[in-house]
Amino acid sequence: MTNKITSLSEYLEKYQESVANPEGFWEKIAEDYYWHKKWDKVLEWNFDEPNVNWFQNGKLNITENIFERNLFMRKDQTAIIWEPNDPKDETVKLTYGELFEKVSQFANVLKKQGIKKGDRVTIYLPMIPELAIAMLACARIGAIHSIVFAGFSANALADRIIDGTSNIIITSDGGYRGTKTIPLKKIVDEALEKCPTIQKAIVYKRTGEDVPMKEGRDIWWHDAIKEVDTECKAEVMDSEDTLFILYTSGSTGKPKGVQHSIAGYMIFAEYTFKNVFQYSDGDVWWCTADIGWVTGHSYIVYGPLLAGATTVMFEGVPTWPDAGRFWDVVDKYKVNQFYTAPTAIRALVAQGNEFVTSKDLSSLKVLGTVGEPINEEAWRWYHDLVGKGRCPIVDTWWQTETGGIMITPLAGITPTKPSFATLPLPGIQPVIVDAEGKELKGNSVEGNLCIKFPWPGMIRSTYGDHERCRQVYFSQYKGMYFTGDGAKRDEEGYYRIMGRVDDVINVSGHRIGTAEVEDAINQHPKVNESAVVGYPHEIKGSGIYAYVICDELSETEIANIEKEIRATVTKQIGPIAKPDMIQLVSGLPKTRSGKIMRRILRKIGEGDATNLGDTSTLLDPGVVEDIIDGAKVEVKR
Ligand code: WT7
Repeated sequence: MTNKITSLSEYLEKYQESVANPEGFWEKIAEDYYWHKKWDKVLEWNFDEPNVNWFQNGKLNITENIFERNLFMRKDQTAIIWEPNDPKDETVKLTYGELFEKVSQFANVLKKQGIKKGDRVTIYLPMIPELAIAMLACARIGAIHSIVFAGFSANALADRIIDGTSNIIITSDGGYRGTKTIPLKKIVDEALEKCPTIQKAIVYKRTGEDVPMKEGRDIWWHDAIKEVDTECKAEVMDSEDTLFILYTSGSTGKPKGVQHSIAGYMIFAEYTFKNVFQYSDGDVWWCTADIGWVTGHSYIVYGPLLAGATTVMFEGVPTWPDAGRFWDVVDKYKVNQFYTAPTAIRALVAQGNEFVTSKDLSSLKVLGTVGEPINEEAWRWYHDLVGKGRCPIVDTWWQTETGGIMITPLAGITPTKPSFATLPLPGIQPVIVDAEGKELKGNSVEGNLCIKFPWPGMIRSTYGDHERCRQVYFSQYKGMYFTGDGAKRDEEGYYRIMGRVDDVINVSGHRIGTAEVEDAINQHPKVNESAVVGYPHEIKGSGIYAYVICDELSETEIANIEKEIRATVTKQIGPIAKPDMIQLVSGLPKTRSGKIMRRILRKIGEGDATNLGDTSTLLDPGVVEDIIDGAKVEVKR
């Protein structure tokens, strides 16, 4: 494979080269793609606006780089292996040729519905091949996909549709998750009551349950595809046209639509995929994420398919029919590289070793993790039991905004250290800064993690609000992209990610903004005010701890309030944002200017009130004692 690093010395050499001449480094890689017209200039940028242009005025289509570029040698090679929720149901295997046909066909369906270049298409589907088909069909015709994870509620879906002003949504009657079915069409119907821009809904039949179809708006997928042919010319796009938006949470306000553009994202997704996981031709690759998150975008669909890989897509859950499901699937398809989240590993550790020790797993060569720091115990289990001590583990740090992996070992090449993401990929220039934004040079430093030079896969804007993008990512530290994470560079120059330094909680590897959860809790009619923080949780990494002030409650109301608050959050956002701990309090620790001192609440949630720091600026220091007395965890004083 081209552009694949094969040794540590080559990595070091490439890294030096990429810092000395980033334009030259990426330009050489870009030569490998199919362009209708090559770029005039590799890079133009400033981080003040921000304005980042990679491969300026280049013309291309990303799907031609997946299909036409790969087709002559891979027409009959499997592109997607789909493992259904129920292991007794049949696997679906799509070759590159078949997938191309289905993508082209669905692209024609979209066209027939009047969807054009630049239009936003909301996709709200379970993990079925049609999800990948729909997203690639958008890319084929230059429409912008906005995929919403199918675990989000009607309200959360509506927010995303409205912000992205989509006029079409693609969904299914329902979806399976273990023993549960999720009524997706029903959720969509509820969301669409609030979304006047949506003209059409295309509905794939997955569960076969009875769903009402709205005359003039709703169309069955299986009917729509009958009316079109299976060839669709690719729309010629500009390098910097938007490929997709994907909503993610921050410390304030509603989720923002992170915007990625075509050429840079394409090159970065494939480059990182091949190098980090050391994928070789013929290997079977499996990333267990949901395509509703960026991990699925970059490492189930775009990265692997651009590289001509065989990618496994899994509809089910790791614990059904039993906690050995992942390992059954690995053995069934002889998976070579496996990529999952620490939270999934911790959940499986808790189920006992027999589920893994009884499996063969000899096909595995590389193991990866993403989404949150991996604790040493989980790392050991993954390494010793799953990898039988043979497989390198790549702990990959990146974000929705970065488009692809940034700091990571290269599998089998970079010496690893548990809980360290190790070293930056070529082309990535991380810096650690102190509170004032001063770069901390040299080793053995700790501070906030920034990136000081553009990379091709980086965020270009937040949809509909460029100023917000500038504010959130480029204003804290002048001339740098701020990640929101704290990091340490150790004595060897290895990076260890220390976690978010803003008001974002990483729950099971998913980003939840505290402000968003507070807004949701405050929707409950009896709630006056709330404050939400993260606290250490054995399986989820961080759990959600909510301190809530309510109106006076009767005995029965007290008995039900926690349940009701959880239901309110589920309705507003979705089950992933449900607080794990809810504590009713009579007051919150506030400064005289009215700011909640979350630091104190975090400490209490961690169960350690021995060192609450300076509390002299508190309006009423007495509330802290009351909160400690009523805490849901044992608190050391
Ligand atoms: C946040 C980004 C990127 C795919 C999944 C999450 C945390 C991510 C690691 C890691 C420690 C990590 C960071 C980051 N994170 N990977 N290997 N070690 N922390 O994407 O939802 O955009 O979240 O996840 O805090 O900022 P995301």
